[in-house]
Amino acid sequence: MEAEAGRTGGRYDIADGIIEKTLMHQEFAVVRSLTSITPEIKRLTLHAPSICRGAQPGQFLNIRVDVNVPLLRRPFSIHDIDGDDLSILFTVVGRGTTVLARKEPGDTLDIIGPCGNSFLPFTEGAYDTSIFVAGGIGVAPFPFFTKRMDPSRRIETFIGARSRDFVIDGGMRNVHIATDDGSLGYHGTVLDLLKEYLCANDAGAVRLFLCGPSRMMRAVADYALEMNIPAYASIECDMACGIGLCQGCAVESNGGDKKYFLVCTDGTIFDTRTVKI
Ligand SMILES: Cc1cc2nc3c(=O)[nH]c(=O)nc-3n(C[C@H](O)[C@H](O)[C@H](O)COP(=O)(O)OP(=O)(O)OC[C@H]3O[C@@H](n4cnc5c(N)ncnc54)[C@H](O)[C@@H]3O)c2cc1C
Ligand code: FES
Repeated sequence: MEAEAGRTGGRYDIADGIIEKTLMHQEFAVVRSLTSITPEIKRLTLHAPSICRGAQPGQFLNIRVDVNVPLLRRPFSIHDIDGDDLSILFTVVGRGTTVLARKEPGDTLDIIGPCGNSFLPFTEGAYDTSIFVAGGIGVAPFPFFTKRMDPSRRIETFIGARSRDFVIDGGMRNVHIATDDGSLGYHGTVLDLLKEYLCANDAGAVRLFLCGPSRMMRAVADYALEMNIPAYASIECDMACGIGLCQGCAVESNGGDKKYFLVCTDGTIFDTRTVKI
């Protein structure tokens, strides 16, 4: 069955004009596969041609997990795109992900995307090394980001997770792993591993790209500020509409003209100096 792009159905139908302005689509995507890639991490692949065509790394999808289940849409990072198919990664933590984990090939999902901004504009200009720092399932956007990066750009990828069951490293370059329990890689936090790496290696002028739990990103952003390293974080927060209508995802700015930003449309990716993570 082919996926259909359209504006019908769903609790948050997209108004005319917003589709035009943001190039977002509401698409009824067909499930291609659902696989467990570690004991804890699942990968869901969907056929969604309209969304795939315009998507950029760092953007997310707002997914209605089931038309018969009264839940708000859940946001998920675009993990990878291959032709007209895209995938997301998730761990089962609550109601939405429990429903997602029951999907079967041929099922359809109502998704809105691609939402939010991309990492790519933050890679423009002169510097030497892009350092990706992922915490837990925050690793999700980095394979797609790696794929779309200028191949001549040096990338070092730091992944922190609870244990080896929460680690994936496929599709990324120069991967360094830290686990809380020491079951894989460095025994400790991803920030400690990053600090050790930067002390021992000449990475030149660096930019940090972060995705993961707020506590981890705050710690890395504080370190970046102290070391005068530019850092860009994909901020996670509770969302409803995902398209700038409900004002439910406001985050306080660090000063300037705007007191608040909307994570879903001004971000999700921000220069860490501009927002309170
Ligand atoms: C921009 C954006 C991108 C995101 N990308 C991804 C992604 O790629 N993959 C992904 O799995 N999730 C991602 N999330 C989080 C995702 O949207 C859901 O919130 C999450 O999967 C939990 O949904 P749920 O309905 O299963 O849990 P809920 O029923 O909403 O929550 C149930 C319980 O689980 C707790 N909980 C919620 N999230 C987590 C968590 N991450 N870890 C531990 N406990 C949690 C809640 O505090 C609550 O107590 C993203 C969020 C944002 C804002
Ligand atoms: S989630 Fe509705 S405005 Fe951001």
